[in-house]
Amino acid sequence: MIQKAKGTYDVYGEYGKRLLYVEELIEGLMEKYNYEYFRTPIFESSSLFHRGVGETTDIVTKETYDFKDRGNRDLTLRPEGTASIVRSFIENKMYGNHIMPVKAWYYGPMFRYERPQSGRCREFYQFGVEIFGCEDPISDAEVISIPVNLYKLLGLKEIKVNINTLGDKESRELYRNALIEYFKPHLDTLCDDCKERFNKNPLRILDCKIDANKDIMKSAPKTIDYLNEKSKDYFEKVKKYLDALDIKYTVNTNLVRGLDYYTHTVFEVEAKVEGFGSQNVLCGGGRYDNLVENLDGPKTSGVGFALGLERLMTALEYEKIELPIINEIDAYIIPMSENEKEYAMNLCMNLRLNGFICDIDYNNRSLKNNFKNADRLNSKFIIIIGDEEIKSNIITIKNNKTKEEYKINKDELIDFLDSNLPS
Ligand code: HAM
Repeated sequence: MIQKAKGTYDVYGEYGKRLLYVEELIEGLMEKYNYEYFRTPIFESSSLFHRGVGETTDIVTKETYDFKDRGNRDLTLRPEGTASIVRSFIENKMYGNHIMPVKAWYYGPMFRYERPQSGRCREFYQFGVEIFGCEDPISDAEVISIPVNLYKLLGLKEIKVNINTLGDKESRELYRNALIEYFKPHLDTLCDDCKERFNKNPLRILDCKIDANKDIMKSAPKTIDYLNEKSKDYFEKVKKYLDALDIKYTVNTNLVRGLDYYTHTVFEVEAKVEGFGSQNVLCGGGRYDNLVENLDGPKTSGVGFALGLERLMTALEYEKIELPIINEIDAYIIPMSENEKEYAMNLCMNLRLNGFICDIDYNNRSLKNNFKNADRLNSKFIIIIGDEEIKSNIITIKNNKTKEEYKINKDELIDFLDSNLPS
């Protein structure tokens, strides 16, 4: 038997309903925030991610799905959304056409060749936003508010918002030099990956999972001590806006994030519910004031975040959150025999197009089995179509809860259902 590829999963049943509910909630939330929907291709030129996400990141060095197409082009299944949205922003010249800021939201599958475990898949879905052309800390706070409000709307309680700042280019450079000085004498105690990071991007040493608990990590220089006045002021303002929005946060000075493009604010939201497991980062993001320029666009600032749907769904499960998903239908239609199927199907389609949730017996079940099926589907009404009904155009409809039966002219059926179904 052919099985699904490692690190992927199928969606169906109750999980599918819960997922659709969350997706609709996201869509509604983005409408309220007045963000524009973007959809970019699932594969892009490999160089976009090498230059965009960063040559030294684990994502690019170890995790991309790269392939050549039949025209010998180097392509990559996107490992994240930001680089693609930036590419689209530049390619579609939005810096010229739009009134700034451009506020984008996106949703779709991402691919990373990681070791699969709970909360870590090779194909996973991200919902994310990116704001272009706003250098005011109000936009950083707004971005952080989006996942926080989504979690709140869903009823998640056990979450923790961690924030930090990497400062502007100048502060980052100072900090980088301080880290080089600090780690240089201890290089042989670090893992092989960190030895490589030391040369290419020493900030990423702080993000290492292997060396994380070593003392040398705990006493490493903190970004906060290398900020210039401008960067300090920027971070203070982000915090003030978060306070104004009543968003509780913790400043975590070791938070540097795993992608290369960040400047100033970085943040992550963790799930704190017991038993959640090690992949407890529900979302992450931050500011990237040089990425648009690095990808050949005009100097334009950016800030955004992305959250993983799989981890969000797991958090909802662990916090035992019930979602208001619909598990019932309005009417179940039973044709008494093969002769009534066309009429019944026509009626069913008409009701569906008038907004009712309807199903029909496709399989010529016995009346007894059809009643059982109506109960299984939690149907509020049962409509039985026999030859009498077709001749007279008078439909027999039964309230499946009270068991009351009505005879209704076919033309009045929609009005009947409208007034007898709770809105
Ligand atoms: P990221 O931290 O790499 O950031 O991913 C964001 C979120 O995607 C994670 O917090 C996690 O919930 C989910 N995620 C990542 N990898 C996996 C995986 N293998 N399996 C399941 N879920 C996963 C970014 O991708 C940035 N583009 C975020 C951003 C947007 N920064 C600025 N704008």
